[in-house]
Parts: sequence; C-alpha cells; structure tokens
Amino acid sequence: MPGKANVAALSDLATPWSLRVVATLGVAEQMAGGIEEVGELATKTGSDAESLARVLRHLVGQGVFEEPGEGRFRLNEAARVLLEPGPLRGFDLDGHGGRIAGAWSGLLSAVRTGKPTYETVYGRPFWEDLEANPQLAASYDSLMGYEGAGVPDPDVLLHDDWSSVRRVVDVGGGTGGMLAEILKAHPHVQGTLVDLPRTVERSGEIFEAAGVADRVQVSGQSFFDPLPPGGDVYLLARVLLDWSDEPATQLLRGCAEAAAPNGRVVVVGGVSAGAAASRAGLLLMVLNGGRTRNFTQFTAMAAAAGLKVTASGENARGRFVVEATPQS
Ligand SMILES: C[S@@+](CC[C@H](N)C(=O)[O-])C[C@H]1O[C@@H](n2cnc3c(N)ncnc32)[C@H](O)[C@@H]1O
Repeated sequence: MPGKANVAALSDLATPWSLRVVATLGVAEQMAGGIEEVGELATKTGSDAESLARVLRHLVGQGVFEEPGEGRFRLNEAARVLLEPGPLRGFDLDGHGGRIAGAWSGLLSAVRTGKPTYETVYGRPFWEDLEANPQLAASYDSLMGYEGAGVPDPDVLLHDDWSSVRRVVDVGGGTGGMLAEILKAHPHVQGTLVDLPRTVERSGEIFEAAGVADRVQVSGQSFFDPLPPGGDVYLLARVLLDWSDEPATQLLRGCAEAAAPNGRVVVVGGVSAGAAASRAGLLLMVLNGGRTRNFTQFTAMAAAAGLKVTASGENARGRFVVEATPQS
C-alpha cells in the first residue's frame, strides 16, 4: 500500500504534462543539437523562454534534464529517452498523444456510466474522430507502426509450423509493419493486409522497403465486412482489445468464416493467461469501450464466434498467443 507521501507523488499532474510539453516542442532534439541556453531553446521551439525555463526546472527537480548554470539546460540519461523512437512518441500533444492525454479527463464519467467517454470530451466517438481528422489518423497510424511501437515481433505462431502456411491475412494490420516482418522471415508466405482504406494507403512504402511488396495484397475495408477468404492464418494483433464483447465477437466470427474450413485465427495482444492487464485496459475503457481479456473470457467469446481454441502460451519473446480453428 502506498503511504501518504506516495499518494501525493503519484497524483501529481505537473510532471506528466511537463514531459508531454517538452516532447511536443522537441526540446530534447534541440539540446541534442547542442543548444543549451533557454532563450535559444525557446526561439527554436516557438515558445516563451520564461515559461519553458519553469517547465524545464520542474523536470530537473524530477531527475529529467540538468541545469548546469542559470538558464542553461541539457540532456541527462533520463531525458535522452525522449529522443528514442517508441511509445514516448505518443507524448506529442499536437498529435494522437494530445487526444489520449485529454481523454483521461473522462475517466470519472466512464466509471460512473460504464461507457467510453471519448465522445463526451471530443464530440465524436474515437474511431469517428480519427476518420474526421486525417492528421490525427496519420499520427495514430504512425504510433501503431514502427515509429511508436518499434519493430514488431513476427513470431506469431506458437509451434513455429510455418511450412504449411501459404497466406497470412493480417486483420487490422495497420500500415503493414507486422506483415512485412512476417513475410521477411518466411519467404514462401504471401500476405493480405486488411485495414481501413486511409491506413492501408500508407502501407506501400513499408512493403517496398521490406522488399516484400510483390507478395502482398491489400484490402482497404472495414474488418466487420466479409474478410478475404483463403488465408491459412488470420492474425488479430492488438486488435480485439479495442472492442467491447459484441463487436469483438463479430470480428472473431468474420475471421472464423473466412478461415473455414482449414485456416486458423491467431490472436496476439489483449489476451493474457491470468488476470487481464490493467493499465491498457483502463485507457480503452475511456477511449473506445475496449478491454483486455483473460484466457477464460477469450475462450468463451471464441466459442460464441464459432472458434475452438487449439493452442495458447507465450512465444519466444514472452508474448501470450492464442490459436483457434473454426468449429466444424
Ligand atoms: C491498435 S491498432 C493495431 C495495428 C496492428 N495490428 C499492430 O499490431 O500494430 C488497431 C488497428 O485496427 C484498425 N481498425 C479499426 N477499426 C477498423 C475497422 N472497422 N476496419 C478495419 N480496421 C480497423 C485501425 O486502423 C488500426 O490499424
């Protein structure tokens, strides 16, 4: 149990917001380029010098950045993390990160009503908001891709039995990073990327760069519409968790129908062996009504969708994977 002092520290909003502000302004990048004086940092980042200094000084007090002399700030080890690709890219308040940060203000309402509150905060449900804001959608897509999520783990089959797989259909595969890694690792495999039209539009250069473009088909569509048939593997990577039980079951049913009779459905992300992960689940509660699920909950949902779980466990990198086949 946290003591009194911990609760005060844990509930502090100044630090998370300050980190997002410096990330949005690109302050760390300027420092990496050799600029230390706060006036110059402010000019380069389009900000007010005194206000920027106050934010940086707060962060210095929290162990992020150093102030070696009055009004001079520089990177330390903790601050250098802001330069790395990865989830911290999601701190950009001008992009998807800003939407996420603001959406947390709906947590109280989500708890009171049991419904996602993104719409209350921004006027439209989560997916509609992305549809209506192309820049936001691009920022979301890039965070889901290499820039935010890093190089995906292509090890999505538990028993490494790729020899019988001819086609992988990556359902909700974003801009194609995961499919590109799978096809690179398995040169005999063909791939189909299914995602919304605006998202698959961005996949071309990723497949070209990976040297797999000649083995990919792309289907810009809703994954709630009939899926391309004929795949051996229908992959749902970090997708099911975005949806409440009814649409998630519908999505699984669509995969089961397309995979029948001999294909399988593989789920990575959002299902865990034991208790469902809490932090990601909380955000989903606010954003879109999605949820993480434990194995028992997933198995029941799969059965309702006409799927039988055939294998589950951790892959070589410790990610929990579930495989299911259409019930005959
Ligand atoms: C959390 S991302 C996961 C992306 C990718 N599978 C990965 O692991 O990086 C969820 C994906 O679902 C897609 N998506 C959401 N609603 C969709 C719909 N109705 N039809 C097709 N794709 C959809 C989004 O565009 C996004 O790419």
